[in-house]
Amino acid sequence: MKSLNHLFENNRRWSDRMREQDPTFFTELARQQNPQFLWIGCSDSRVPANQIVGLLPGELFVHRNVANLVVHTDLNCLTVLQFAIDILNVRHVIVCGHYGCSGVRAAMRGDRIGLADNWLRHLQDVRQKHAARMSAFKPDSCSADAQKQLCELNVIEQVVNVCQTTIARDAWARGQELSIHGWIYGIENGQLRDMKITVDRESAVESTYDAALSRLDDPRAE
Ligand code: CO
Repeated sequence: MKSLNHLFENNRRWSDRMREQDPTFFTELARQQNPQFLWIGCSDSRVPANQIVGLLPGELFVHRNVANLVVHTDLNCLTVLQFAIDILNVRHVIVCGHYGCSGVRAAMRGDRIGLADNWLRHLQDVRQKHAARMSAFKPDSCSADAQKQLCELNVIEQVVNVCQTTIARDAWARGQELSIHGWIYGIENGQLRDMKITVDRESAVESTYDAALSRLDDPRAE
């Protein structure tokens, strides 16, 4: 069996380095976590949440799944969301998609992967919901530009899905400060882009959604 010793060596070096910089770093963290942000991102190994935004352990609560989906029956995602909002009192939920998402590509091409096809069906639903917009990419409905568009639409839809959970709505109803953001990350340049679909109250969901969609039609509006 191939040994994974190098990972343990990496870990020891990292933990030594962190303690050199701040001798109390781990003892402080062991006492409590106090993150201000929940990150909902793709599992893709090229999109490492903490590194992208330069945050240390303890500063970012993280949920990742294939294609950064927020599904209303996904107990895993909902549990993370509830814990983050109700218990940790995070002020910001960031849904972060990324260009070049294999999940988006597979969903668009209708690739058969296996069980994951059922999960990726949610992306196909997003594409279907925006069929008129996506038809602009015909005849190559799987072109790079079409894929980029679906990555962006997916972020917008997942932000709305977070807003529609009982968790976000209850938090807003009791006056808790909470903003839901939609970002997209470029694997090719390491840069984040704000999709400008930040929602901070229930009454703003629809208008913010409409504005984000019309901004997609007119990139100069950025
Ligand atoms: Co992805």
